[in-house]
Amino acid sequence: MSDRKAHWENVYSTRKPDEVGWYQAYPEIPLHLIASTGVGKSAAIIDVGGGASNLVDALLENGYSDVTVLDLSAAALEASRARLDQSSNKVKWLVEDITCFIPARRYDVWHDRAVFHFLTEAADRQRYMKAARAALPPGGHLIMAAFALDGPPQCSGLDVARYSPESLQQEVGEGFALAESFGGLHITPSQGKQAYTFCRFIRK
Ligand SMILES: C[S@@+](CC[C@H](N)C(=O)[O-])C[C@H]1O[C@@H](n2cnc3c(N)ncnc32)[C@H](O)[C@@H]1O
Repeated sequence: MSDRKAHWENVYSTRKPDEVGWYQAYPEIPLHLIASTGVGKSAAIIDVGGGASNLVDALLENGYSDVTVLDLSAAALEASRARLDQSSNKVKWLVEDITCFIPARRYDVWHDRAVFHFLTEAADRQRYMKAARAALPPGGHLIMAAFALDGPPQCSGLDVARYSPESLQQEVGEGFALAESFGGLHITPSQGKQAYTFCRFIRK
């Protein structure tokens, strides 16, 4: 098992989903960004590094019917499956490292909250974007939420890279046009404040 996978399996095996710093009771901004894409309820949506987030629950409740959750940690996905119980059958679950992911199909929306910023090596970011380009057809939406320039330098004990909309645009490359960006604060369960950059790009 890679160190990266061991780290995240340990996190999700020892902490409940609502005890982690990135927990949000209701994924308001992710839902807003996904709604902003204008895709229909049958659109293919992938939550990359979705962990045990309840975004998948909210997507199903809002009527989205083609939802995939990908994460490095099997324990994270198991927590979501158990929570969703019977509805978990409506979701496709992928235990994968996004830097090695070869998509077997295409998606209309790629959503990433707090995953890309862990890729501190340029080669990993390039592999991530190779997967994103393979997954998204022209017109597909790439949504990213990463720590902002004044956000924390670490998350879950790991170093992160911090981004402005401009530097995220540089990372995703000229094949994507910035459609929407804004900053926002995430309040952690222990009342800490974390500044995020939110971007939605469209594949050219
Ligand atoms: C800070 S958590 C965010 C989880 C979720 N997106 C949310 O908003 O609640 C980062 C997630 O990324 C996953 N992750 C980290 N590196 C990954 C990789 N290389 N491939 C896939 N998932 C990864 C972790 O297992 C973890 O669930």
